Amino acid sequence: MITPETIQRVRDAARIEEVVGDFVRLRRRGANLIGLCPFHNEKSPSFSVSPAKGIFKCFGCGKAGDSLGFLMEVDQLTYPEAVRKLAERYSIDIEERQQSPEEQEQAQVKETLFQINEAVANWFQAQLWETEEGQIAALSYFRERGFTDETIRAFRLGYAPKSWNNLGDYAKEKGYKEEYLQTLGLISKSERKTDVFRERVMFPILGTSGRVLGFGGRYLIKKENSPKYINSPESEIYLKREVLYGLFQGKQRIIKEDECYLVEGYTDVISLFQAGVENVVSSSGTSLTSEQIRLIRRFTKKVTLLYDGDAAGINASFRGIDMLLEEGMEVRVVLFPDGDDPDSFARKTDTEALKTFLNHQAQNFLAFKANILMAEAANDPLKKAEVLRQMADSLALIRDNFSRITLIQDCAQRMEVPEEMLVSEINRRIRKRISERNQPEPEQPEAGEAIEDEGTPALNLPEPAQSHKEIQREAAQLGLIRLAVLYGDRILHFSEGEEPFSISALTYIIDELAKDEIQLPSPLAQSFLETLDILDQEERWSEIQAVLIGHEKPEVQHKVLDFLQSPYHLSQYWEERHNIITDREDTLLKKTLAHSLITVKMNVLIDRADAHRERLKVLQEEQRAAGPEKLEEFQHQFFEILVEIAKIQKLVQRFATELSRVIIR
Ligand code: GTP
Ligand code: MN
Repeated sequence: MITPETIQRVRDAARIEEVVGDFVRLRRRGANLIGLCPFHNEKSPSFSVSPAKGIFKCFGCGKAGDSLGFLMEVDQLTYPEAVRKLAERYSIDIEERQQSPEEQEQAQVKETLFQINEAVANWFQAQLWETEEGQIAALSYFRERGFTDETIRAFRLGYAPKSWNNLGDYAKEKGYKEEYLQTLGLISKSERKTDVFRERVMFPILGTSGRVLGFGGRYLIKKENSPKYINSPESEIYLKREVLYGLFQGKQRIIKEDECYLVEGYTDVISLFQAGVENVVSSSGTSLTSEQIRLIRRFTKKVTLLYDGDAAGINASFRGIDMLLEEGMEVRVVLFPDGDDPDSFARKTDTEALKTFLNHQAQNFLAFKANILMAEAANDPLKKAEVLRQMADSLALIRDNFSRITLIQDCAQRMEVPEEMLVSEINRRIRKRISERNQPEPEQPEAGEAIEDEGTPALNLPEPAQSHKEIQREAAQLGLIRLAVLYGDRILHFSEGEEPFSISALTYIIDELAKDEIQLPSPLAQSFLETLDILDQEERWSEIQAVLIGHEKPEVQHKVLDFLQSPYHLSQYWEERHNIITDREDTLLKKTLAHSLITVKMNVLIDRADAHRERLKVLQEEQRAAGPEKLEEFQHQFFEILVEIAKIQKLVQRFATELSRVIIR
């Protein structure tokens, strides 16, 4: 038992931001630090650490506690284990009271299993370094592979000798129950010849906190009927879905570099690590699982996959990669030259060249996928349509609007299809997802992602059942709203008049409409505009997209998604934006806005004139029915309406001229 004094000393020494910082990227916000919660799946940080109080709290999932509580939770440790771990981190000696035999009896099975694995890992290491057989067979093999002694020790590599019953005897000597070694897959149940690992180099598989969960053993000599690798079976302490090889050694660097390389096997991890690329892991044994992805995401959102140039393998992994995108990761790919894998390449390249290679070769995964699929589809239009759908599947998973828009343009170009085609395929998928999410029972938005609806002006939505003309009219108005949503905060400079002035695009839209006394006839569009106006006046523009996307009404979500995802109208604008030709950007936006405004205004006026004509018709009927003696009473009203129509016609003409000027200019 650890003495209470030791526990107190550990508590006093521990700094919560350091303890948490080993697992979570933290950044400062005021007196606290924030980051992505390691205990639940989230996209924006709701996990807060208070150095002053020595505690953490997640406002998403509610988990809270001190340094010890954090370690217990994050590494699944018992209380004494967490104390030991912190004591080690802060170099505090542990004072202990001897455990009674009863207490020993009570020690949990899990703990025993960990102890056995730890002892066996040490034993394998001893076989490697201290026996002649180990040195000759295994150590020389590692050295031939280019592993330095330092590396071999860092990964705790070992050797399982050729002779039989080593571990059985070792267990007897140590007093470990055979049953436990069987559970761990170290020995089999047969009478004699029980060892599972023989004449193999051993790779211990470590958990995030460095405890030995299991082993991978590679043969030294290729044998028939014997697999190249034998891996420990799943057990109480080895949940393969939740383990990444190399994470223990690499996690600090993953945080520091904000990037994680993903490779295929043990030797790839070790070679890259030794070559100075320490932020590398492998999902050895399983295909990538969502648990493993979340594990990575505790440390970074950026994953780069390293492949040897084998197209078949790449194709097979597309699905796993969609999972990464789904979990909100940014995925890039590096292809190695023919015949090289990360391991062999790292061995023959120096650190700087390797890093340069990785940086230069890394390409966005979706662009990469489009290339491969397109090459396969060649000129077969049917296959090409299928590729389009496959690309839309992946693109629809990307949550970040800016990246998605950029990637859509890129992929459309590669596939030689209009952006619109891709966009509509993608929108269909996103709509489906949203309506699936909204239908059964409106799901609570996830913490951190949650958009406070308080104070957000509600949008009044129109009833459906519109005529074709109405739909067209509304589309024009929503086109204007889209510009307002995307670019409303841009400042436009006008210098044509006597007095130059600058106003925001939103103000420009609102002023322009007010000047001609025009209200948007579409209730949806008009209430959008009012919402934007209010948010702008409250200086909440930065929240605008979030507020609208998070809107409780699916109709609004759909519209906003449309706005954000159909960039082709302004793609010219986007290009210019990338080239940062600011005054041309300004001109182009002004032009686009003017075009949209005039179209909307003209529509409104034409409809207004039509309504007047209708009234005129009705009036004529009434006059005819009333007889000629009442003509004079009606004349006055006729005249008023005709004047209105004439005014409108004049305006429409003016707008038409302006419109053609805008288009030609
Ligand atoms: P060489 O590249 O031939 O030197 O061998 P290696 O030790 O690097 O392994 P290899 O590149 O063939 O395999 C990469 C990864 O695939 C390994 O780290 C293992 O995770 C996995 N693997 C390979 N062979 C086997 C096998 O027989 N069984 C299991 N379970 N996994 C294997
Ligand atoms: Mn290999």
